[in-house]
Amino acid sequence: MSTRRIVDLLRTGQPNQTVTVQGWVRTKREQKEFCFVEVNDGSSMVGLQAILTPDLPNYADLVKRLNTGASVEISGTLVESPAKGQRIELRSTAVTIYGEADPETYPLQKKRHSFEFLRTIAHLRSRTNTLGAVFRVRNACAAAIHQFFQERGFLWVHTPIISANDCEGAGELFTVTTLDLKNVPRTDDQEIDYSQDFFGRRAFLTVSGQLEAEIMAMAFTNVYTFGPTFRAEDSNTSRHLAEFWMIEPEMAFCDLEGNMDLAEAFLKHIFKSVLEQCPEDMEFFNQRIDNSVLATAENIINSAFERITYTEAIALLEKADRAFEFPVSWGLDLQSEHERYLAEELFKKPLIVTDYPAAIKAFYMRMNDDGKTVRAMDILAPKIGEIVGGSQREERLDVLQRRIRELGLPEEDLWWYLDLRRFGTVPHAGFGLGFERVVQFMTGMTNIRDVIPFPRFPLSAEF
Ligand code: 4AD
Ligand code: MG
Repeated sequence: MSTRRIVDLLRTGQPNQTVTVQGWVRTKREQKEFCFVEVNDGSSMVGLQAILTPDLPNYADLVKRLNTGASVEISGTLVESPAKGQRIELRSTAVTIYGEADPETYPLQKKRHSFEFLRTIAHLRSRTNTLGAVFRVRNACAAAIHQFFQERGFLWVHTPIISANDCEGAGELFTVTTLDLKNVPRTDDQEIDYSQDFFGRRAFLTVSGQLEAEIMAMAFTNVYTFGPTFRAEDSNTSRHLAEFWMIEPEMAFCDLEGNMDLAEAFLKHIFKSVLEQCPEDMEFFNQRIDNSVLATAENIINSAFERITYTEAIALLEKADRAFEFPVSWGLDLQSEHERYLAEELFKKPLIVTDYPAAIKAFYMRMNDDGKTVRAMDILAPKIGEIVGGSQREERLDVLQRRIRELGLPEEDLWWYLDLRRFGTVPHAGFGLGFERVVQFMTGMTNIRDVIPFPRFPLSAEF
């Protein structure tokens, strides 16, 4: 007799089979002659119903102590269930309680709790239906991502978390230091003397693994990163985290078209695979969180993404029959309201916007012949806005150097990046997918803080 995952028993368990399950009590229903206990081990939304009968040793005491949240091991025999909605249940022959949960103080009682409240108990919230479903879907997304790239021969490369460059140039960096903050060493001109710091220079938590991924792509052709990234953006929105996970493929001998094609195939694969792996969880999101998630997923899988240039997007926004909070004009960055209008209302599907003005994009993007726009691409999704940001990279040494100087970036710090253009440079391209944004998109969860187990955002780093 071995311990079995509840999801497997629910799918394939047979009457008369003897099994042991372990998990946490979700609900207890006491009847006159027996007691029902639903046990959940996190492997599926639905738990296994166990029946406890008075012939069990210490029956009355067990029933008293088996409250919501208690941890148990139950052995018994599977029987066909007469109840609606479940195929089998467990006739219990032995019950061990590992830890009780006091019903007076255990915060997860049967009623519905707000997501805001659940965030304050992030150490317990994964035991709820919704967060349980979110983290199973998150896991399925991660597996689908690796599968997609591994099947295509991309090498998973591990780029550093501590970095000395600001890839995106947005200055949203967390400094990593061991300097004594009460007694910070200063240079003669009163600047902080980072030469005395741990790394002998100023270091940060990375905002993106892209520049290092480019190095690796110049040796392995096709690579991807999948890791945590950090941004000290003081934005308290439902789409921003200070610590989030990003997937960044980088491809040598690839242009923007190839980049867009890969990104589109990639998103389609993730959605398809999660629908296959987590049908019950996705059904739950459709019923309880957002009744459009299944239709949206089908739409993503089955229809080609729209592709327009930034200049065309601006023209469409200027024609829109509505007043936007932020102004629209050529040269200004698209705000979330603009992105959502385009994807959600106008096209009603993901849309790829290309060729943004150079002035609002990062230094590494390839300059177009017009000298004004760069080979950038953002994928905008209904409800979320930007979900992917990418570009073809500037592979021409002289053009890149000019751009770095124009922007006043520290050329000496980027010597190795420029070397890639000196030695065997090739056209190359890549993009970054915000992992939490794709999980949000998939599940319909409105707040990004509810799709990562322990969210970090301004004024919050608990758990
Ligand atoms: O558009 P971003 O800033 O692009 C880059 O970092 C490039 N280096 C990617 C590349 O070309 N390799 O970020 C990429 C994606 C965004 O589209 C968004 O989905 C997500 O990362 N993202 C965030 N997600 C959650 N919280 C934040 N604060 C985010 N900032 C960006
Ligand atoms: Mg971006």
